[in-house]
Amino acid sequence: MIASLMPNYNRADLAFEQGQGIWLQTADGRRFMDFGAGIAVSSLGHAHPKLVSTIAEQAGKVMHVSNLYRVPQSEHLADLLVQNTFADSVLFCNSGAEANEGMVKMIRRAQFENGHPERTRILCFNGAFHGRTLAMIAAGGNPAYTKGFGPIVDGFDHIPFNNTNTLRDAITPETAGIIVEPIQGESGINTADIHFMKALRAVCDEFGLYLGLDEVQTGVGRTGKLFAHEWSGIKPDVMSIAKGIGGGFPLGAVLATEEIAQHMTPGSHGTTFGGNPLACAAGTCVLTEILRPGFIQNIETIGTAFGTMLDDVVQNSHGIFDSVRGLGLMRGLHCTAPVGDVLNAVIQQGLLAVTAGDNVLRLVPPLIVTEADCRAACDRLIAATHSLTALQAHAKKECAS
Ligand SMILES: Cc1ncc(COP(=O)(O)O)c(C=O)c1O
Repeated sequence: MIASLMPNYNRADLAFEQGQGIWLQTADGRRFMDFGAGIAVSSLGHAHPKLVSTIAEQAGKVMHVSNLYRVPQSEHLADLLVQNTFADSVLFCNSGAEANEGMVKMIRRAQFENGHPERTRILCFNGAFHGRTLAMIAAGGNPAYTKGFGPIVDGFDHIPFNNTNTLRDAITPETAGIIVEPIQGESGINTADIHFMKALRAVCDEFGLYLGLDEVQTGVGRTGKLFAHEWSGIKPDVMSIAKGIGGGFPLGAVLATEEIAQHMTPGSHGTTFGGNPLACAAGTCVLTEILRPGFIQNIETIGTAFGTMLDDVVQNSHGIFDSVRGLGLMRGLHCTAPVGDVLNAVIQQGLLAVTAGDNVLRLVPPLIVTEADCRAACDRLIAATHSLTALQAHAKKECAS
């Protein structure tokens, strides 16, 4: 008989009762270093005192009123985002996929209002991941996620990531914009070259397209800049965020220039929950912490040190890992053994990580992690490779005898 909880996840047999900082603990007292952070979400770690008290305090006042009324908490968070980014205006929602849906709608609407109703198609990249709604599985283009969910939503074209050769030829009179992740997370921590990001900006300017960045995973400090596109010095026209902004509370947003945002007139788009007082109080708390002087610089410093430590892990991994990917605190280790086996061995050592595509082990710890924490995590990674190679040697021996 089917479980009451639908079987659409392959869950590890672990249930956490409590968290503190970068640590998670099961009911039977097993402690794990959380270098998965709930898939790059728990930016301030677990049970962060300020975030906990902010949420408790706001919940005690008012959680939800709907967007029929002013929500001062959302006005405040929008101000904070506008003050610290390229954006002139912000729309709140509840998840990354929903933010990306909003981003695509805004691109199309702006083209429509600017006299180009024919410009509706969005150029996306092979290996992209933008979420699991019907339109976003089409935007991602991964057959594993579209299988059985047809008809596939039309309007998304795909070309190779990090390749400028095919870019211009893929633009048609119907192209409205480009959406891209500065680092493709789900498909294996593939970082966009600075040169590629600049080329995307240049092509959008030349052809009158809008550049939309999906910073759902890379944003809010993760890579050592507030947003990952800052590494390339370009600015998008529109950007989706989610994950880290709520620190564990579900919150997403679309940030846009005035040119785009002006067309989102009353009635054009909406959500019941998006930007409610509780979510925005949580988001403001997280963002205020991350914007504290030195916090992002610290992520950059620790992230760089973490990268060097991971290079050493590769050297000492008996060939289980062969390369390090990513930036800041968004890292991937490419595995030569099946990544599922590697993850199991890592969990056995009391370290949590996340698998990604292309046989990559993803490491995305809370942004409050220290260098000492990273060193301890690397020790556990090396120990995991030792146990894995011992297991492999044992299996080989068994086979031979
Ligand atoms: C780059 C990117 N975009 C969108 C999403 C979808 O976000 P959500 O699961 O909150 O809908 C994810 C989730 O992993 C993501 O990594």
